[in-house]
Amino acid sequence: MKKAAVFYFSGTGNSWWVSETLAGALNEKGISASAYSIEKITFLEADRIINECDLIGFGYPTHGSDLPFIVKKFFQNLSAVKNKKTFIFCTQWLWSGDGARVGEEYLKGKNFNILWAEHFHMPSNVCVSVTWFLPYTNDKKRISKTLVKTEKRIKGFIDKIINERTYRRGFNKVSRFLGGLQRVPFRYFFERLRNDIYFEKSLCIQCGECARLCPSKNLEFHGTELKTKGTCILCIRCYAFCPVSAITYMNKPHNPERGEPYKGPVAEFSPEFLVTKNQ
Ligand SMILES: Cc1cc2nc3c(=O)[nH]c(=O)nc-3n(C[C@H](O)[C@H](O)[C@H](O)COP(=O)(O)O)c2cc1C
Repeated sequence: MKKAAVFYFSGTGNSWWVSETLAGALNEKGISASAYSIEKITFLEADRIINECDLIGFGYPTHGSDLPFIVKKFFQNLSAVKNKKTFIFCTQWLWSGDGARVGEEYLKGKNFNILWAEHFHMPSNVCVSVTWFLPYTNDKKRISKTLVKTEKRIKGFIDKIINERTYRRGFNKVSRFLGGLQRVPFRYFFERLRNDIYFEKSLCIQCGECARLCPSKNLEFHGTELKTKGTCILCIRCYAFCPVSAITYMNKPHNPERGEPYKGPVAEFSPEFLVTKNQ
């Protein structure tokens, strides 16, 4: 294998970090690899890059053991290939069962030969006020401990790829069943959950960042009003990166007692990395 591309979606930076670290580790092993945010490329560009590579990676955050809608759409719009060696991964805080396997369902019929699959533990980005019972942190010292462990796992994963040793975490029947226990209710309640993002007008400074950064074009300003179009994918980016924490979830703005909303795994992370073409 000589050339690789890792295509990822990331709401708040975790999957970006894993994708860049994977690409870096592949480069160290002599495979020329780049990571691409799927928000910055067209389906045609992705097809072209895939054609030029002999190893393809796909990554995304697990959302209730499912994959974000934007990733489903990306997979469904890719052209079929001729038996490409492929790895797939999800990032997760705690557990997803078969979070990586479920991506395979949306690549069906495209001949991506998924030989490797992994789940990478990353910090939780679930920081909305209504999830007060779920812990998250912005403490970079604590986060860096997780990153050290995940980096080791990434290196082990790359070794399996280099040695062409098939390894597919979460592809067995038990993981699939357990993932389903979370995915089925998540899908059932998704329409209800995705329509709960809004804003607190008295806090909003109308800078438009939330709308600009939204990966699913769910948010739009009409004068001083923020309109939602029902296309939210629950990635948390608008909530996490609003400069004045004016985005609400279930009518609740961010609770400052929980600390700042989750801002990504490393201090240098910026959501611009995910959306701005020349980054
Ligand atoms: C809507 C939603 C659902 C999530 N569901 C799970 C889950 O089922 N299991 C888990 O371990 N983490 C879950 N998480 C946490 C994220 O998957 C995890 O923090 C991920 O690394 C975030 O990646 P990103 O920064 O690239 O978006 C969820 C996060 C969100 C926003």
